[in-house]
Amino acid sequence: MRLRPARADELAELTELCLRSKAVWGYDAAFMAACRNELTLHPRDLDTPLQVAETDDGHVIGLAQIRLAGGEAELARLFVEPVLLRGGAGRVLFAWAVTEARRLGADRLTIEADPDAAPFYERMGARLAGEVPSGSIAGRMIPRLVLTL
Ligand SMILES: CC(C)(COP(=O)(O)OP(=O)(O)OC[C@H]1O[C@@H](n2cnc3c(N)ncnc32)[C@H](O)[C@@H]1OP(=O)(O)O)[C@@H](O)C(=O)NCCC(=O)NCCS
Repeated sequence: MRLRPARADELAELTELCLRSKAVWGYDAAFMAACRNELTLHPRDLDTPLQVAETDDGHVIGLAQIRLAGGEAELARLFVEPVLLRGGAGRVLFAWAVTEARRLGADRLTIEADPDAAPFYERMGARLAGEVPSGSIAGRMIPRLVLTL
């Protein structure tokens, strides 16, 4: 596996990867349709740190994105190809996000997580710090986690 910056010509493909990955938690079609807008990648996303994991023969298997605001970084995306879950790609992409956030001067990384992904972030050293409203589903609250950098 290797990491590289995302390219403009693959944003549609990466959006579909995000949606496939999100769906692993068993959400129904209506829920997934409501998430599509938030999970769609746009050319402006290339202005943020957005990294793709691919196999040695060039197959994309995951991606991560951070956004910087003030002295804080937010993990905007972390998605792994469903058939490769628990294969170590999430850890590698998360490590990239941490290193990149530190390099850009952030002193903490915040994560608004899918509830099923929250234990992964705790495993990566983040701590639960309350709940925030989902960006896609009105009335749904999701866990917020913080990692001190
Ligand atoms: C969350 C996600 C990125 C983790 O990626 P992954 O490649 O499966 O994780 P890894 O294989 O690198 O796992 C690293 C460690 O975390 C553990 N882990 C992974 N997913 C976990 C989970 N959902 N719950 C608890 N532990 C988990 C692994 O067992 C491993 O533990 P170890 O330290 O004992 O080896 C992946 O499950 C995913 O893409 N999920 C769907 C999309 C999603 O919800 N993304 C997050 C949006 S906030």
